[in-house]
Amino acid sequence: MEFDLSILQPKERASFGLRALYEAAGCRKYHMGRFEEYGLYQENRSFLPSEQVITFTDLDGRLLALKPDVTLSIAKTAQPEKGQTLKYYYSENVYRPSAESHTFKEIAQMGLEYIGAVDEAGMRQVMELAARSLETLESGWVLEIGHMGYLFGLLDALGVPSSARPRLLEKLRARNAHELRAAALAAGLGEAGAFALSALLALSGGYAETLRRAEEFCRSDAMRAAVAELRALEEVLAGYKGAVRLDLTLAGEMEYYNGLIFRGYLKGLPRPLLKGGRYDLLAQKFTPGAGAIGFAVYLDELDRLGAPTPPVERKSGSSFINIALPKGRLGDKVYNLLAGVGYGCPEDYNATRKLVVENPAAGIRYFLVKPSDVAIYVEHGAADVGIVGKDILNEAGADVYELLDTGLGRCRMCVAAPADYQDDPSRPVRVATKFVNIAKAYYASLGRDIEIIKLNGSIELAPILGLSDVIVDIVETGTTLRENGLKVVTEFMPISARFIANKASYSFKHPEIEAMLAKLRASLAEQEEKQ
Ligand code: PRP
Repeated sequence: MEFDLSILQPKERASFGLRALYEAAGCRKYHMGRFEEYGLYQENRSFLPSEQVITFTDLDGRLLALKPDVTLSIAKTAQPEKGQTLKYYYSENVYRPSAESHTFKEIAQMGLEYIGAVDEAGMRQVMELAARSLETLESGWVLEIGHMGYLFGLLDALGVPSSARPRLLEKLRARNAHELRAAALAAGLGEAGAFALSALLALSGGYAETLRRAEEFCRSDAMRAAVAELRALEEVLAGYKGAVRLDLTLAGEMEYYNGLIFRGYLKGLPRPLLKGGRYDLLAQKFTPGAGAIGFAVYLDELDRLGAPTPPVERKSGSSFINIALPKGRLGDKVYNLLAGVGYGCPEDYNATRKLVVENPAAGIRYFLVKPSDVAIYVEHGAADVGIVGKDILNEAGADVYELLDTGLGRCRMCVAAPADYQDDPSRPVRVATKFVNIAKAYYASLGRDIEIIKLNGSIELAPILGLSDVIVDIVETGTTLRENGLKVVTEFMPISARFIANKASYSFKHPEIEAMLAKLRASLAEQEEKQ
């Protein structure tokens, strides 16, 4: 009987294709059990994506864990001899907490690891296999490549203290130019240092051309060594035309990767499908002198490819920039700004109840969404870009790029209380708020214990009725506080509307999104000059 391969789900087909690819490249399948000694994760916590692991006691009393990661187990067990490179691939399930579903998720991973004497040829092979893995999946794809050595080389050359690095890396990862500059200045880098760090954001684009600029920008031998490694990959990656990009802001899990770092996107998927890099430090914990490089393919992401195309996409076919516009005053301001630079629509959305309006000639489509949902639409890729208040963005903790501070809708996040309020340190503060995560993070930074009362609006009522001691809320003019007998206790977060982008969309629609950003920046600068 012939097998009808069309009955396979995209992820099953992918797993056959990848297996054939890795076998043909001379890699051996590495099979392992579902469980691992919990101690391995306790000792190597910094190499895990999350400290939360499912544990259980085995029949002999040992504490075991359901594997949250495969690489650690391979690094532990593989014992390459001096000068030898072990080449493995695996197909396993791992178990990780999911912030979205507030529970653990089973994640199907297929991956590849080279451990031992990883030389230039080995790195070239792995990078080529990463590119070919994406190509096997028969859709448009992008592979973004960065280098931790380049990034750390720059931080070292600028004398950035280690305490300031996590924050700077976080801002780089979000491509957040405005906050990167502020964080650099706060870290004592001075104008020249802040400028150099911000210039990294421009080192993103076509491989050859970006590499040339990255070479010019080198300030240390470590940066030059990183460029040399990237240069050695140029020829093998050139065959993949525009699909391979260089992005020197890529900063993965800090302690995991130390050299090359990369991630791959597939058209139609909002999150990276492939993530990998060089992780010598982890390999050396188990085998002195060893090097390692590898990647994982998150097969479950492919489930989405099996879903039918949404009606809004079916209708047009051509490539639009999809914008999540918050309904209301802020959205109207931003729309006017965009319409002023050529992104208006013939139809007035305020005159209808329509939730989608578009201008095919300008390649633009707006989705009218509740302000608090903008970041969700963008993170999940239902919209490519969006405009959202910094309050909502921080509260959602969305994994998106924050490309521009529009300066519109300025206000601030405050703790406020009745005029005669005095903190009573003998008990937790009762805090009423819509912004639970922001309030928790703020009080945690003070080391103050709190009791949260989550409300959805009219927050100012809570202390008036004795429901809470204080509120954490946004203050714009201060009128609501004043008219309800409340005062600001502390202001702790400036807020304004930010232009955000889905990470995959930014990769696939890079020229279009950058063109829109440039026009927005120019228009905002012009308005500022007039004032
Ligand atoms: C916001 C905020 C304050 C008010 C502050 O409420 O929660 O109540 O605006 O503005 P002001 O300082 O200019 O007085 P919003 O209008 O969003 O309504 P809400 O009560 O539903 O939160």
